[in-house]
Amino acid sequence: MARKFFVGGNFKANGSLKAIQTIVENLNGAKLDPNVEVVISPPSLFLLTTAEKVDSKIKVAAQNVFDKPDGAWTGELTVKMLTEHGIEWVILGHSERRTIFKESSEFVADKTKAALDSGLNVILCIGETLEEREAGKTIDVCCGQLKAVVDKISTADWSKVVIAYEPVWAIGTGKVATTEQAQEAHGSLREWLAKSVSPEVAQATRILYGGSVNEKNCKDLATQPDIDGFLVGGASLKPASSVTITVGM
Ligand code: G3H
Repeated sequence: MARKFFVGGNFKANGSLKAIQTIVENLNGAKLDPNVEVVISPPSLFLLTTAEKVDSKIKVAAQNVFDKPDGAWTGELTVKMLTEHGIEWVILGHSERRTIFKESSEFVADKTKAALDSGLNVILCIGETLEEREAGKTIDVCCGQLKAVVDKISTADWSKVVIAYEPVWAIGTGKVATTEQAQEAHGSLREWLAKSVSPEVAQATRILYGGSVNEKNCKDLATQPDIDGFLVGGASLKPASSVTITVGM
């Protein structure tokens, strides 16, 4: 079965309530392609308003979640808080969490398991630094990040996971991976999934590209056989660009 194209918008810690409402209004008013799944991820303070205001065909993702039940975890959100309020997705393992907040692959895997166990869908981010790419370690690094998750979740759980391949050197830099670089990485990741999980999971799992995607470069990237969508940062904050990326596929 063909994989449904997926476009995620990660607002990171950006945007006022007013700015996010404008993005939501633009998306609500756009004629979105029914063959494209759209998920937007505002800062946690704006999750509920976004979920309330956005058209039901667009889903909302948290940018992080903790792996433990409600309790004394100052500053954290729990999976129950998300599921009880209709938030269906969470982004985990983003490179900013891995590098700035020192999240290990094991911790990302624990959070992925907790999220999946409670019924959330996960956008699982992986990616190599420039140094790792130049050392020829791109696939080893990405597969190492994936393996931590493979070791903790079941084969059936993969139906609720979307992988986002985001080379760290392309995030927020304006330096998008070439279509060849992106396809090569996505193809290798799919092969690795076939060997490490199952050929069926490899065929069905969507692998998104993230890193300086905008309304100009998205069309070329989308032609590649193993690129099943995008996780968009900066351009998702510009109402016109986010609509172009989501309807233009
Ligand atoms: O989650 C999104 C990625 O970090 C990409 O961000 O599109 O601003 O490069 P960017």
